[in-house]
Amino acid sequence: KIVDNLVGIQQQEVDLAKFLGISHCMIVPGNTDHQAKVIDSMGKLVEKALEILLPLGHNIVAVMGGTTMAKIAHCLTPKLSDNRDLIFVPARGGVGETVAIQANSVSAAMARRTRGKHRVLYVPEQLSMHAYTPLLSEPSIQQVIQLIRNSDAVIHSIGQAMKMAERRDMNNEIIAMLKRNHAVGEAFGYFFDESGKIVYKIPRIGVQLEDLAKMKCVLAVAGGTSKAKAIVAYMKHAPSQTWLVTDEGAANSILKE
Ligand code: BG6
Repeated sequence: KIVDNLVGIQQQEVDLAKFLGISHCMIVPGNTDHQAKVIDSMGKLVEKALEILLPLGHNIVAVMGGTTMAKIAHCLTPKLSDNRDLIFVPARGGVGETVAIQANSVSAAMARRTRGKHRVLYVPEQLSMHAYTPLLSEPSIQQVIQLIRNSDAVIHSIGQAMKMAERRDMNNEIIAMLKRNHAVGEAFGYFFDESGKIVYKIPRIGVQLEDLAKMKCVLAVAGGTSKAKAIVAYMKHAPSQTWLVTDEGAANSILKE
């Protein structure tokens, strides 16, 4: 039975990658929505994927925030640094998350777990454009921006649009606009409707959707039936080299449609 299940999952990984138009999918048994420990199995696969995707030597790895990423960070091990010199940076500046799940914290945690290095992007969350622009020319901030720009890998999750908008305390007008435009998914601060159309973008520095095409390694991590629509919406923009680590909850729901 276990073997049957494994073969089934392997076939599903091929089908899902094809359906989403990306390079590879890895699916763990279970559903993150109902079983918290499923995320640990996803974490193990993230490490395995990075072992395959990251070349030996120097790697700048840009990471996004979120609860998924924060948990995944704790599954990484120093093995990833064997013959690799890893430096983690936040992929995008302040998008209004609480400290524990900010990209800065995730990148620090990943560095700690893998015994790599990390750099912090000191850009406060809620700033007017007026205050924001001069900050960007600060040398310490420029250094990190350059690292982000030169990153060879990015690890990110995909969120449900309305959940993300509320978690980030976005104002009522924007929330109403997202509802009106039927936003279902969010990644990198971009909000998408079911067809993949971008309905809103949080204006922040760092990795933009158009930068993904040139990245050697793009690893998305998102599971749970509740994220199925969000995954499909974002994947309309994902570059073809993308790998996705997900669970059966999301995979079954996507392939059923
Ligand atoms: C955010 C990222 O922090 O987390 C988003 O900036 C991502 O791009 C989101 O979509 C996912 O959050 P979670 O908690 O569902 O893993």
